Amino acid sequence: MISFSVRELKSSDLDALLAFEVRNREWFESHIDARDPCFYSELGVAEHIESYLSDFAVGAWHPFVIEDSNSEIVGRANLKSIDFTTKSAQVGYRIDQRVCGQGLATQALKHLIQEAQARWKLTQLVAYVFAQNAGSKKVLERCGFLADQSSGNEDTGEECRYVLSI
Ligand SMILES: CC(C)(COP(=O)(O)OP(=O)(O)OC[C@H]1O[C@@H](n2cnc3c(N)ncnc32)[C@H](O)[C@@H]1OP(=O)(O)O)[C@@H](O)C(=O)NCCC(=O)NCCS
Repeated sequence: MISFSVRELKSSDLDALLAFEVRNREWFESHIDARDPCFYSELGVAEHIESYLSDFAVGAWHPFVIEDSNSEIVGRANLKSIDFTTKSAQVGYRIDQRVCGQGLATQALKHLIQEAQARWKLTQLVAYVFAQNAGSKKVLERCGFLADQSSGNEDTGEECRYVLSI
């Protein structure tokens, strides 16, 4: 049985991260906002990792990857825009299409919640998800997030806001 683990992003993840993002580009772009095309190169991903790690160093961001037992990156999850005034942050995650439906996003989101609570002492997490992204909504609800009923509109493309009090 393949096992998966969640760990922090590191600067040596360049090749594995680029491969993961290129492999899943179309899949991600069908669910979430597309990245700048410049991202999809060694330089683009190197700058991306550097920026995430700098934000981690100042406590604004906590980036993770999910890897399989062959050390291949099969998912990502981030605590974003950590705000110590409001004790809140945003969550984001993306999973390789080849391993979806096996509970990886749920595992990753639980990890983010645990880190938010234990390491960063946050009391609220927020997620934004497109109205038609049924898989992601299921993950959020399973982890205790509640939909802000006044948000989200499939016609206008407005994202649904989900909140978790921790
Ligand atoms: C959304 C996403 C993160 C889910 O990852 P995952 O590892 O498959 O998630 P999990 O396996 O933990 O749970 C997904 C659940 O949603 C269900 N699901 C998936 N697609 C669905 C759909 N279209 N309609 C209804 N349920 C759906 C799965 O069956 C599963 O439920 P189950 O465990 O009861 O069978 C993944 O599809 C993905 O990366 N999508 C592209 C990027 C993205 O949308 N990120 C989230 C932005 S908010």
